[in-house]
Amino acid sequence: MLILGIESSCDETAAAVVKDGREVLSNIINTQIEIHKKFGGVVPEVASRRHIETIDAVIDEALEKANVTFDDIDAIAVTYGPGLVGALLIGVSAAKALAFALKKPLIPVHHIKGHIMANFVAHKDLKPPFVCLVASGGHSHIVNVSDYNKLEIMGRTRDDAAGEAFDKIARVLGLGYPGGPLIDKLAKEGNKNAVEFPRVRMDKNSLDFSFSGVKTAVINYLHKLEQNGEEYNKADIAASFQNAVTDVLCEHTIEAAIIKNSKIIALAGGVASNSALREKMTNEAKKHGIDVIYPSPILCTDNAVMIACAGYYGYLDGDFADMTLNAVPSLQL
Ligand code: KG4
Ligand code: ZN
Repeated sequence: MLILGIESSCDETAAAVVKDGREVLSNIINTQIEIHKKFGGVVPEVASRRHIETIDAVIDEALEKANVTFDDIDAIAVTYGPGLVGALLIGVSAAKALAFALKKPLIPVHHIKGHIMANFVAHKDLKPPFVCLVASGGHSHIVNVSDYNKLEIMGRTRDDAAGEAFDKIARVLGLGYPGGPLIDKLAKEGNKNAVEFPRVRMDKNSLDFSFSGVKTAVINYLHKLEQNGEEYNKADIAASFQNAVTDVLCEHTIEAAIIKNSKIIALAGGVASNSALREKMTNEAKKHGIDVIYPSPILCTDNAVMIACAGYYGYLDGDFADMTLNAVPSLQL
């Protein structure tokens, strides 16, 4: 079965053709990072306009690279939330138009579910159940994946997403946008124990996250040094901040896996590319006999392969949408 996946929830216009949910025939991503860089973050209206300009060409390229035509496609899967409403609408409208014109089924996909499903593409033998940490620019969720279409949230952020904290701290350190990869790189030159930033636990029985505290702690720490005219080492700050965030992500996720007696932890979302997170999670989980898996970085950040994969499992469950499908910016999992 060939699924055409379409993704436009934030600043990547993406289309992909995936065979039987796991075999990537094409993966086209048109990123807008260069456009939004000068504003220090994604400008929603600019993102929507850019999606309109590029989506047709991105879809055509996905078919071309896969060496297929619209006739060969069995269904169209599209992200309909969560995300920026104007951005989502472009992908949803394109998918609806194609499904209508080609008389093919339309499959609605939740963006976070897509991120999780990237692991099925990256690991051909992977089967549920497993526990997944989804950490991106907009979300930080611990999800128990008991079956392909059965997801249970075990923990979530009460305020900022992990990626959002990375982006903010990178900005105050003057590193640029997006901040995650820049902090990851700089942290390699720093001492992760230079400053003890807070590791927040909402309450003993909750696996929820809160990253606004560590973000404020770093900002206050830097302000104080600046006011006193003291020098600081950016690499030490980046490493110490990253150490605090990854400690919490690892602790809560491993606890979730232990609760579910899961022998696999999967990582997903942009922050899953973080080298310190991957290393720490792998080492800490090993102590409990738990294996850690993750997709390659290109399948961690936004892409349409993950949407086509989720679409395949949605198709098998008969989860179809009609022409009333709309973008849902704060869609719940
Ligand atoms: O999944 P994604 O592409 O978009 C959302 O759905 O939000 O994630 C983007 C986020 C950004 O906040 C970016 O800074 C972060 O993922 N990110 C990283 C790394 N690579 C991307 N964060 C930490 N370390 C990285 N290596
Ligand atoms: Zn995403």
